[in-house]
Amino acid sequence: MKSVVIGVTGSIAAYRTCDLIRSLTKKGVSVHVCMTESAEHFVGRITFEALTGQRVYTSQWESGMPHIELKRLSKLLAIVPATADIIGKFASGIADDLLSSTYLAHTGTVLIAPSMNPGMYASKAVQRNLQRLREDGVILVDPANGEAVCGDEGQGKLATIEQIESRILELI
Ligand SMILES: Cc1cc2nc3c(=O)[nH]c(=O)nc-3n(C[C@H](O)[C@H](O)[C@H](O)COP(=O)(O)O)c2cc1C
Repeated sequence: MKSVVIGVTGSIAAYRTCDLIRSLTKKGVSVHVCMTESAEHFVGRITFEALTGQRVYTSQWESGMPHIELKRLSKLLAIVPATADIIGKFASGIADDLLSSTYLAHTGTVLIAPSMNPGMYASKAVQRNLQRLREDGVILVDPANGEAVCGDEGQGKLATIEQIESRILELI
């Protein structure tokens, strides 16, 4: 069965991941969700549990070794949406929570769909981190241009769910 592990991080766009998961599961893809602590401020784990029909992973301190379980669940790890913070952690090899540890342990393909304020996205630090991830072989689904939720204009909005889904379907 086709499967994907979706990492959800603390972006305002986290609610859009619900539509992505719904669409993937309707196409018969088995979806496993790993959320950061910040992501839980935006969407409840129960929503993802209901949409996937699977356990939702949130903490590295749950019994077993969740980062190893997650790496075995799929060859594709897709981070939707990806915050500036998680991009920085991935680029630097920091592994201080379940999602960043899972990224380091993962040996398959990684797709990242960034979402953030246009100023954050344009910042030298974020651009440097994204370049490093590209060089590491990570597939990026670039954010769109337009008006952010905060009213700022520029590039930073999560790409469309259709774009992200079609990349995921190509990769699994
Ligand atoms: C209302 C609100 C919206 C936010 N939206 C974003 C966002 O879209 N992108 C982003 O990079 N950070 C955003 N942040 C900041 C992150 O939540 C914060 O950096 C957090 O530490 C990210 O943690 P995580 O990467 O572990 O999920 C937002 C914060 C708040 C309070």
